[in-house]
Amino acid sequence: MRKVGIIGCGAIGTVISRAIERRIVECDELVLYDYNIEKAEKLKKSLHFSVTVVKNLGEMIKLEPAVIVEAASQQAVRDYMDRILAENIELIVMSVGALLDLNIKSNKIHIPSGAIGGVDAISSASLAGVDQVILTTSKNPRALDMDNREEKLVYEGTAEEAVRLFPRGMNVAATLALTAQPEKVKVKIISDPKVDRNVHEIKIKWKHGDMLLKFSNDPHPENPKTSALAAWSAIKLLNETLDRYARTSST
Ligand SMILES: NC(=O)c1ccc[n+]([C@@H]2O[C@H](COP(=O)([O-])OP(=O)(O)OC[C@H]3O[C@@H](n4cnc5c(N)ncnc54)[C@H](O)[C@@H]3O)[C@@H](O)[C@H]2O)c1
Repeated sequence: MRKVGIIGCGAIGTVISRAIERRIVECDELVLYDYNIEKAEKLKKSLHFSVTVVKNLGEMIKLEPAVIVEAASQQAVRDYMDRILAENIELIVMSVGALLDLNIKSNKIHIPSGAIGGVDAISSASLAGVDQVILTTSKNPRALDMDNREEKLVYEGTAEEAVRLFPRGMNVAATLALTAQPEKVKVKIISDPKVDRNVHEIKIKWKHGDMLLKFSNDPHPENPKTSALAAWSAIKLLNETLDRYARTSST
């Protein structure tokens, strides 16, 4: 049974649910949880297939989803991850920043490439040795809760600190830190009123070459901190995780 639980019915939870409705994800049953139950009920009402809304994580776990997607917050990862893993449920984590502190390793935890790509290449290079990763993120001030009228460098430093200071908007820094080693990743954040998209430019120097990656992502209309690509990367990973689950549970 391809049963999916989603924790968090905001921008990403909604895009994933709509992908299930459009059969982009093959899913037999969807269970929704949001600590703001009205958001879960509102999302359920907008969907044209049968959906169960639950009041807490315990109720979701009782329904035995094959995969749970966390699309809520770093705190949700801290609060729920252990219980989900204890039940042997596959867990897709969107709020990747939380994993930097938790130091948990489990083959049940799946991390999407999020708002960037090329993570496979960086991961390959890190086996040989990555010298340096420089992430420069430029966003419109409203995506950073700022109101500057001129371009402004708002942060320069480590990935860990960037994730702490911008817990909702710097998951890319966390993904890079988990892929290469955290101490190799340097982060610059620019608040620029001329920028309409969330732009991530990544320069990598590694043992056998250089890489230059650039992503200019449309922000989600209801949450400018979140890039559309992040939700679609979760959808791709959800399909892969459900396929793997179906293969292993039928053998
Ligand atoms: N990995 C990436 O590249 C990437 C990219 C964008 C966003 N994100 C992260 O994904 C998460 C979701 O993003 P979004 O844009 O959908 O956010 P959102 O604010 O639009 O929606 C989050 C929803 O989760 C609910 N929620 C928050 N904490 C909760 C908790 N502890 N228990 C239950 N429900 C809870 C909120 O009520 C809200 O409805 C955020 O943490 C965000 O930082 C990751």
